[in-house]
Amino acid sequence: MSHQTILVTGGAGYIGSHACVELLQAGFNVAVVDNLGNSKYESLRRVQQITGKTLTFYQADIRDKAALTEIFAKESPSTVMHFAGLKAVGESCEKPLLYYNNNVYGTMILLEVMDESNVRQLVFSSSATVYGQTSLTQYSEDFPLGPINPYGRSKAMIEDILRDLSASDKINPNRSPWKVALLRYFNPIGAHESGLIGEDPNGIPNNLMPYVAQVAIGKLPQLSVFGDDYPTPDGTGIRDYIHVVDLVKGHINAITALNSDAFKDGGCKAYNLGAGKGYSVLEIIAAFESVTGQKINYKISPRRAGDLAEYFANPALAFKELNWKVEKSLNDIVADTWNWQSKNPQGYN
Ligand code: NAD
Ligand code: UD1
Repeated sequence: MSHQTILVTGGAGYIGSHACVELLQAGFNVAVVDNLGNSKYESLRRVQQITGKTLTFYQADIRDKAALTEIFAKESPSTVMHFAGLKAVGESCEKPLLYYNNNVYGTMILLEVMDESNVRQLVFSSSATVYGQTSLTQYSEDFPLGPINPYGRSKAMIEDILRDLSASDKINPNRSPWKVALLRYFNPIGAHESGLIGEDPNGIPNNLMPYVAQVAIGKLPQLSVFGDDYPTPDGTGIRDYIHVVDLVKGHINAITALNSDAFKDGGCKAYNLGAGKGYSVLEIIAAFESVTGQKINYKISPRRAGDLAEYFANPALAFKELNWKVEKSLNDIVADTWNWQSKNPQGYN
């Protein structure tokens, strides 16, 4: 148990709301900063319903330095969990300035306020998309970075900024050092087992799992499988899907690590959060059909630009240093997605 306050940016969003549940259940105080640009307050109402605890909500943009400064003064957080950001790859190619402004500039403002408030402990939402293409399909943290779109580059730039900040500790010995966990997510899907919170994408989903779920409830007519001629066993793309609740538990473990002796002199370290095992698109469809008893209507379509055939995490470092590994199976993921989707066919609306 702890009475530390964790400031959660983007806490009303898909992953952030699940993190708030775990933080409250672990005994932390939670203050959320979200501009509700891609979320609704309803998610946080439900977080409080699930946990029977209250959190503090600030509707603010992380680029608003004056607002953030005031919030830090009021809350005195020990740690920031930074989820706020834009995340649609296609949109980032169309509107790169919007992505760099929101994600990179927004994070810089947040970091300035943290620095000025003497709060230098951060858990950052990075992504497996920062890795460059290699002939290997299992990614380790020491692989070279080389994102291929503006969204991915915004994440890699933020990682660079954080590594630079951490390196500057040596020549600023009189302040508390930066303690930073860069969590590189593989493919987060699923929902809280209560069925009260989950992913609520605007418009037609870009990602596989919400798309399949909306085909299953009849909201969308047909799934397009993007390519069946990849060099994989069934020809469809393979990804490392991770249950969102497992993912956010990794964030709680990261706080424990940052508070421990391992980080007493500061540091900035990247950790893969993935299962370490991949599933193909057709395997996801089959799992969905078997768990829900619904037939998924799909057709084979051309490959989607920018997609790789196969990649999945090497999660050994997170296991060793964060004492974390996934606990939920693909069937749990599918069952929880279905529970959320069928109880909330219109999302939070
Ligand atoms: P989300 O859109 O559901 O949540 C992001 C939240 O941040 C939203 O509530 C949004 O309103 C808020 N936000 C955005 N810009 C803001 C700003 N300038 N000021 C204040 N609030 C702002 O997305 P998510 O899926 O929960 O993702 C959370 C984080 O994890 C993001 O940084 C994303 O890039 C990263 N990530 C997500 C995935 C994924 O597949 N969902 C994978 C890898 C990394
Ligand atoms: C996407 C993002 C990536 C981000 C990740 C986080 C793109 C190009 N990449 O990855 O930056 O880090 O989400 O979760 O958006 N598929 C279909 N039909 C669909 C949708 C997807 O067949 O309608 C296939 C894709 O080709 C892929 C797999 O399903 O093989 C997973 O796709 P998706 O859920 O979009 O995730 P990623 O592309 O891995």
